[in-house]
Amino acid sequence: GLSILTILREPIYICILAAILAGLATHKLIPSFKPQLIKARLCGTDMHKKDKRLLPEAVGVVSGMSYIVCLCLLIPFPFVKWFLNEKNGSQLNQEEFPHHKFEEFIAGILSIVSMLFLGIIDDVLNLRWRQKLLFPTIATLPLLMVYIVSYGVTTIVVPIPLRPIFGRIIELGPLYYIYMGMVAVFCTNAINIHAGINGLEVGQSIVIALSIIINDFHFLLTGAQPAVEAHTFSLFFLIPFVAVSIPLLWYNWYPSEVFVGDSFCYFAGMTFAVVGILGHFSKTLLLFFIPQIFNFLYSCPQIFKLVECPRHRLPGYDEKNNKLYASRADLTLPGAVSKYGKIILKIFEFLRLVDIEYDEKTKEMKSVNNFTLLNLFLIKFGPRSEKNLAYMMILVQILSSALAFFIRYKLVDLVY
Ligand code: UD1
Ligand code: MG
Repeated sequence: GLSILTILREPIYICILAAILAGLATHKLIPSFKPQLIKARLCGTDMHKKDKRLLPEAVGVVSGMSYIVCLCLLIPFPFVKWFLNEKNGSQLNQEEFPHHKFEEFIAGILSIVSMLFLGIIDDVLNLRWRQKLLFPTIATLPLLMVYIVSYGVTTIVVPIPLRPIFGRIIELGPLYYIYMGMVAVFCTNAINIHAGINGLEVGQSIVIALSIIINDFHFLLTGAQPAVEAHTFSLFFLIPFVAVSIPLLWYNWYPSEVFVGDSFCYFAGMTFAVVGILGHFSKTLLLFFIPQIFNFLYSCPQIFKLVECPRHRLPGYDEKNNKLYASRADLTLPGAVSKYGKIILKIFEFLRLVDIEYDEKTKEMKSVNNFTLLNLFLIKFGPRSEKNLAYMMILVQILSSALAFFIRYKLVDLVY
């Protein structure tokens, strides 16, 4: 039968139950935090509305808090079967207590907590972008240090096309730690810069999380022991994550009542980095970030200041027809385009990735659309309402996940 003990021995049920409670709590808590956040001046203008409403910012912190409480209460459960057996004096389970698993679990939580903390600092202080790279690196330190102590694997399996050069497995050694740090910096910032319309930050995070969850269940149903352990671990982090994100999406979806803030983007990205790193599936993880990878690569010329980068690159808003259009960077400003920037603009123009406006007389470049996936979409498919664009972007994210599964499981002979 389904006695309390059998349920306790299936920690995933407890996890689902706790996640649901955390989700309900988040749904209740968000409205009560709104006036307090506004009072503390943690608020921002909704740029794509006629009345330019002031909305509370950093509401992701509420989700983050519920998430942390939920995860902390869940710490014992994956390990329940060991201490229950010890108490009963049962010899059924001869395996030793998996200390390194336990340490990794706690280090994962510690990294997520640090990232949430640093994300709040960003929301309050509005960090410069160099600091935005530093902070996720700092927050991965707990994870990396525990990884060193637990003699974590520092090898990666080389994708098949590259094997003639590198062999099947390469030992990265210390480089592996740099690689892990970079995964964390990428996951956090990539979500934060694929933003600017209602619902996009949380929406994309939920799609990514659900994709990893589906992948985890695939392993649970088919996989061998070490893989099963790693993916159970991942579920423990991701099920509560989805549960606290859904109520946030509820309030952040068009028309938003709240903004999620950089704290949410960082905490979401770090959660993904933690499960990918500790579960040893960082390459599969990155496959679920196809739109973010594209958006990041496309953004590089602006982020690295080769082309003028305004503080905000979110789409423009036309009050008359209530539609969004691509926002532009002014290229007539002094030093707006560097030498390499010019070359990149030409290449992008050749690839039809940008819309450059030329001066009719001088034939000089006057302006170019900001290099984000949102703006590219608006150039290619025309201005549209914010809601429509949000649906489109979520659809793109879902289709990319489908493509990721196809690459991971159908092209597997070519890639892995
Ligand atoms: C990132 C982007 C920036 C973009 C911004 C908002 C880069 C390098 N940075 O900066 O270009 O403008 O996110 O997405 O690409 N906002 C809305 N509607 C929304 C969401 C946000 O109007 O649905 C506005 C609000 O005024 C809000 C502000 O954006 O207060 C939040 O910006 P913030 O998250 O602080 O910007 P960054 O993450 O630094
Ligand atoms: Mg942001």
